[in-house]
Amino acid sequence: MNAHERTFTHPARPTAVITGIGACLPPHVVDNDTVVARGDLRTDDAWIRDRTGIARRRHAGPGTSTGDLAVGAGRAALASAGDHHPEMLLLATSTPDHPCPATAPAVAHRLGLGTIPAFDIAAVCSGFLYALATATALVRSGTCSTILVIAADTYTSIVNPADRETAPIFGDGAGAVLLTAGTTDEPGAVTAVDLGADGSGSDLITVPYGGSRHPHRLPPPEPDARYFHMRGRTVYAHAVRRMTQSAGSVLRQADWGPETVRAFVGHQANQRILDSVGDRLGIAPAHRFGNIGELGNTAAASIPLVLADPAVHQAVAPGERSLLTAFGGGLTWASATLNWPAAVPRSEAPPAGPDTTPLCTPDLSRSHPWTASTTAS
Ligand code: COA
Repeated sequence: MNAHERTFTHPARPTAVITGIGACLPPHVVDNDTVVARGDLRTDDAWIRDRTGIARRRHAGPGTSTGDLAVGAGRAALASAGDHHPEMLLLATSTPDHPCPATAPAVAHRLGLGTIPAFDIAAVCSGFLYALATATALVRSGTCSTILVIAADTYTSIVNPADRETAPIFGDGAGAVLLTAGTTDEPGAVTAVDLGADGSGSDLITVPYGGSRHPHRLPPPEPDARYFHMRGRTVYAHAVRRMTQSAGSVLRQADWGPETVRAFVGHQANQRILDSVGDRLGIAPAHRFGNIGELGNTAAASIPLVLADPAVHQAVAPGERSLLTAFGGGLTWASATLNWPAAVPRSEAPPAGPDTTPLCTPDLSRSHPWTASTTAS
C-alpha cells in the first residue's frame, strides 16, 4: 500500500453516500421445471440447482419493459431516501427499451425529474458498479450532489428460451440507489472503486445480430443470432479470476483486510462462482450474501437487488464493511468497498408502461420476500 492509497480513506473524505435503496421485481415467479418445459430443454431441476444454485427467477411479461422496472426501482429508492430531487440519472442496462435512444431519459421523465441529465451505461452485468463508480466520481468532483443510479435488465427479452445454457440462468428485475454527497466515515459511503475491461473477450457474451456489425437490413449470420449467447465454461473461468483480482485490489485500496468484511455481495451469476471467489478472497461464508436461488442472474440488477433485500439489512449493521464485485460481458469487471447503508430499502411493483398494459396485477407485498441467504445457512 502506498501513501496515496492510505489517504484514500483516512481521514474522512468527501464521497458519494447511499441514502436511498429501491427494488422492483416482476411478479411472475418461474421455477426450474417451468423453464425446462417451456424451452423443451434437455436438462432438469436437479442439474440447474446443482450447477448454478438457481431454483426460480422472475420473468417480466410481454407488457413489462426494462424501463418499467427501472421506474419502479427508481421510485422506490427516492421514497426510501425521503423527498429528494436528484440532479442526474444513470441507468445501467444491456437490455434497453429500444436500440435507440437510451432508456434513461424516458425513465427520468416518467419519474417526474424534469430535464436532468440522464444516460445509459452499458457494461452488462458489471453495469451497476460501473454506474456507481461514475456517479461517485461526479459527486466527489462537485459536479452533482445527488444522483439516482438504477440498474435494470429484462434478459427474457434477449435469451433464447430453447438454449439450455442461458434460459435457466437469467431472470428480470431492477434495483436502484440514491447517492448523496457525504464523507467516507458515514454509513452508505462508497470508499473505493476498481474498474477494468478486456475487449479481447468481447465475443464470449454477445447478441450477434441487430447492431451495426450485422444490421437488420442484412440476413442474420446464424438463425439464432438475434438471441443472447454466452460461452459459459470460458466465461466462468474469467469471472472467477477477474472478480477475485478486482475485489482484492479494491480491498487493498481501502486498506481493509478480507477478515473485516461483514457483507460480501458478488454478481449473482452462478453460486459456484460466488463460492470460489469468496473462498479465494478469504471471506467467511457467514458474511456472503446473495439471492441467486430466488432470482437467478438478473444481470446489472443483481447487486442492487441484494442491497435492497430486507433480510440482508437484518443481518448487516449500518456502517459495517461491505465488498461488492461484478463481472460481465465486454468483458468488464468492477468492485467497490462500501460502508453498509443505513437507508431502509423500499420495493415497488412495475408500473404500467407508457404504451403497453402489463398482463398482470403485481402485488409485491405477497410475492416478497425474495429472501437473500448467506452461503452458510
Ligand atoms: N443442463 C444440462 N447440461 C448442461 C446445461 C444444462 N442446463 N448447460 C450446459 N450443459 C452442459 C454443457 O453443454 C456441457 O456439455 P458437454 O460437456 O457435452 O459440452 C456440460 O454441461 C458441461 O458444461 P460446462 O460449461 O462445464 O457446465 P457448467 O457446470 O460450467 O455450467 C453454466 C454451465 C453456463 C451454468 C456455467 O458455465 C456458468 O455459470 N458460466 C458462467 C456464467 C457467468 O459467469 N456469467 C457472468 C456473466 S453474466
